[in-house]
Formats: sequence, C-alpha cells, structure tokens
Amino acid sequence: MRRRTLLKGGLAAPLLPWGLSACSGSGGAENPYLQANFGPVAAETTASGLQVTGTIPPELSGRFLRNGPNPGPDVDVDNYHWFTGRGMVHGVRLDAGRAEWYRSRFVGGSHANTSVIGHGGRTMAIVESGGLPQDLSYTLDSIGDNTSIGTGFTAHPKLDPDTGELHAICYDWAELRDHVRYVVVDANGEWADEMDIPMNGMSMIHDMSLTKSYAIVFDLPVTLSLVALGMGASFPFRWDTEHEPRIGLIPRHGDVEDMIWCPMTPNYSYHPMNAYEDENGNVVIDICRYERMFDQDTLGPFGDSDPRLDRWTVNPNTRTVSETTIDERPQEFPRCHPALNGKPYQYGYTVAVEGYSFPSIYKHDLRSGKATAFSVGPGRHSAEPVFIPRDGATAEDDGYLMTYVYDSAKNTSDLLILDAQDLTRPALAQVHLPDRVPYGFHGNWVSDTDVPPNV
Ligand SMILES: [Fe+2]
Repeated sequence: MRRRTLLKGGLAAPLLPWGLSACSGSGGAENPYLQANFGPVAAETTASGLQVTGTIPPELSGRFLRNGPNPGPDVDVDNYHWFTGRGMVHGVRLDAGRAEWYRSRFVGGSHANTSVIGHGGRTMAIVESGGLPQDLSYTLDSIGDNTSIGTGFTAHPKLDPDTGELHAICYDWAELRDHVRYVVVDANGEWADEMDIPMNGMSMIHDMSLTKSYAIVFDLPVTLSLVALGMGASFPFRWDTEHEPRIGLIPRHGDVEDMIWCPMTPNYSYHPMNAYEDENGNVVIDICRYERMFDQDTLGPFGDSDPRLDRWTVNPNTRTVSETTIDERPQEFPRCHPALNGKPYQYGYTVAVEGYSFPSIYKHDLRSGKATAFSVGPGRHSAEPVFIPRDGATAEDDGYLMTYVYDSAKNTSDLLILDAQDLTRPALAQVHLPDRVPYGFHGNWVSDTDVPPNV
C-alpha cells in the first residue's frame, strides 16, 4: 500500500497556482481535493454567444449536463472530503449546430451533488447518500425535492434499455445498519417496486450493475466508521479489513431468499463500465478497481491506490468470482453505449488518471483487447467521457464522446465533442466556456426528445 506525496512531480505540481486561488484558507495546499480544478468556482454563470472551434453536429439538440461538488467559502479545508461539497450543475445547450448557452447552478434541497439525469421527462440532480433527487428546470434552476421515486435514491441508477426502468441500490437511513433497498422506478419516473436486501453492516455502495436476470450489489470493504464519525470526519467511511468483500446477485424477478452472494478479493470499486450474462450464464462485469480506499487518504479516492480496469466473471452456480485485468493503466469514470447497458458489448470509454489529473480519454475494444487514446493536450485535463449514439447509427461506436476539458493556462473549460469511432481525429467541436467546470463527478447528454425545453 502506498500514498502519493502531494504536489511532488507528476502533473499536479504545475496546477498549484490556480488551485490556491480557488481555495479558502492556507490549509488548502494540504488538501488535494481543493487544489487546481478540484477547487470550487465562486459563483453561478449564465453565458450565451459561446465561441466554438470546429463544427457541432447539427443533429445534437439537448444539453450536456454535469453535476459535481462545489463547496462554499466557509469550507473546512483540513476536513473537506471531495464527496461532500455542495452540488453544482453545469450545462451546455446545443441546438442545430449552435451552442446556445452555458449555465452553472447550485443545487438546492438535499445536497444532490453526484450526477444529473433526464428521466420520465424530468431533469434530476442525484446523490449516493440516500437523499432525494432534486428536480431541475430546463435552465438548471432547482425546483424542489422529487418524491415520486420514493423515500431516497442513489447517484447511480441503471437504465434498463428495454423497459425504460431505472434500477437502483439505495441506502435506508432510518435503518441504515442492516440492509439496503433495491428500488425500481418506471419509465415515467414513478416508484414501481422495492425489496430490502439484508447486509452485514453498512458498507459504502456507490454504484450497481444490471443484467438481463440480475441486479448486482457490490458489498466491498469500505464501511461506516464510528471512530471516524466520532472524530467529526466529514465523510466517515473507511477501509475495513474485517468486512468480507462479496458480490450479490439479486434475481430481478425472484425473492431476496434467492439472492446469490459470491466472495471475492478485497478491493474498492466505484464504477462498473457495464455487465452482462455470457453464453454460459456467467455474469461478466467490467469495472474500475482500486486495491485500497479511504485508508491513508481519507479526503478522496486517489491517494491510496490507482484504479485499473478489471473484468470479473461471476459464476452463479459455483458462487465464485474470477478476476482478471483488462488494462493496468489508471483510469476511471467508465461509460458505454447507453442502449447496451446490461448486454454484451464491444466498446467502453474511460478517462486516464495520473495522480490527481486526467490527461486523456481511453476507448477500449473489449473484443480485440486494444485501446486507443485521445490526449486533451498539455495543461489540459479531461473528465468522464459520455457516449452519445449518432442518429441512425448501426455500428456500436458510431457516435460522439462528450466531456468537459479544463485548460489550466486559460483557467476555463471547454466542452469537447469527439468522433467516438476515430480518436485519432481532432475534436469535431470545442465549445469555449467563460468559466471552468471543476472536476467530478458525473453527467449525461439529455436530448430535447427525452426532456423538452421549458420543462
Ligand atoms: Fe460515481
């Protein structure tokens, strides 16, 4: 196990001056999750007449949205955890080849800071902590808590592309120690079904997977620490060597008694790229895996170990997990074609991680085992790459990758639109924003078909 020395070599050091300007208090230099583009922006922005380099594909009508932490000036620098900052949603509206506006807005209500989705005709900011989603207007103003989905939700619901349902593993704060909730939300955004899943203590469950037959729980050894809680930690989850790591397969149309638990090696993994069932009935999960989490670095995910891309094959009959590595290089925020969620697929996309920096986008061909990369350039840093299929596409990778890129020299961000079929091409378009979009966490392309303007 190792811990990085902060701001010593690598790509983090040159970013320090911008980070300090974005932090409050002298202690900011000690907290990497407030430095450089991790630091918050001071205010909401509304801008139109955006400059564009290249050509925005005219078929793209909608908004590219991102939600992430943006703590205020009163942040406790020494205790600030990256996952706890107040949410701010950033969005760029595209229509008919034009970039109509950029907006950033603080998220109101119950602290939804982790992702933003369009579902059931609504735009929602969402969070892992079991809090309610926050409904947003088309122009990203907070409207109020969304109670249609039940008593609480998650940052990482999974869409069933065949039914339009969202499936989610959610905490249950009223009785948080012994179970989580498996929740199904219908295509209209209404709570549809729910099942309690018994747990061995309160492990941090950030994401889930969905396949044709199973909803999948990642019960991994980061758990609520009463010691950390008692010491006033802003985020009291810690690496827990006593907690048995395991994967749980919930039969989607069965009972909790039919659940299949499969032990595996210790790790923490936030984000699966995708999961599906192979021809033998095994569950294949591609996922970004850390060897250790919140052990020495208790302020964010990047200080204890690097995330690599793994493939886990779960045999429901033998209740075993076979673990292999697809790509040793550090990478995070995996995505795939949205219509192939839960199904066999060929292509996945991640962002490269170098220390506390994100210099490239990776495209993985999971059949050939080859990967290609798009470097965003010196002093520039990428983020989660979102795949948007092209209208009428038949090839799986025929579409666009969108991401926000931070330019440290300009201290602003661009919206980048790439040709997903060919990462050797220059960006199709770069929309230049007047402010920066801080790192973290997740977002989506929400087309005007899914959520029409003025909703
Ligand atoms: Fe996440």
